[in-house]
Amino acid sequence: EHFVNALTTNLTYFFREEHHFPILAEHLRTLSGEVNIWCCAASTGEEPYSLAMTALETASSGARLNVNIVATDLDTNVLRVGAEGIYGAEAINKLPAGMANRYFDRVDDQRWRAKPALRQMIRFQQLNLVDTQWSVRGPFDAIFCRNVMIYFDRDTQLAVLRRFAPLLKPDGLLFVGHSENFYHATDLFRLRGKTVYERVSKA
Ligand SMILES: C[S@@+](CC[C@H](N)C(=O)[O-])C[C@H]1O[C@@H](n2cnc3c(N)ncnc32)[C@H](O)[C@@H]1O
Repeated sequence: EHFVNALTTNLTYFFREEHHFPILAEHLRTLSGEVNIWCCAASTGEEPYSLAMTALETASSGARLNVNIVATDLDTNVLRVGAEGIYGAEAINKLPAGMANRYFDRVDDQRWRAKPALRQMIRFQQLNLVDTQWSVRGPFDAIFCRNVMIYFDRDTQLAVLRRFAPLLKPDGLLFVGHSENFYHATDLFRLRGKTVYERVSKA
């Protein structure tokens, strides 16, 4: 019934599709207290760590936030990498100025590890988006679902989007990948910015 392309890749990097991060920061500035974010195709962790860094940068400019990120993926091997939080110097060197030292500890010449404060914000767990049961509980302030729906057929995409809607807070945001447009789900989500959606029904 559901079709998942066997040719999925785990390609990801820190601050991929970087225009999303200022939008997330702006959204976080409207919130206070407990904030919950779901990153539903987290791969090796660069995406949830980018979300966590964005949250800490936003918090350091005044807002009092307690941000929890649940990072899920189909593939338990990539989840293990994410939970460990160790990345190569080449990737760390590409981070925006100052972030490497603020958020990562040097392990050796080649590797850096996410600091405990960053790692503690993220819970990594397995979840298959096409399973009938999801092990996450909303409501979320934001869902990041980037560069995974491209592997699903249209009906599967729609089914997943239908299940996202009630998991998002009324003012929550859905961030998708650059080549993922959900014009077939206009009853559920309306475009709020470049590849950022909000719920149509705010009830
Ligand atoms: C190309 S990576 C994108 C990673 C990240 N979201 C980004 O945009 O950089 C796609 C990820 O989706 C995961 N994936 C593929 N099918 C999935 C499914 N049915 N449920 C959950 N994750 C899935 C893969 O394991 C892979 O880690």
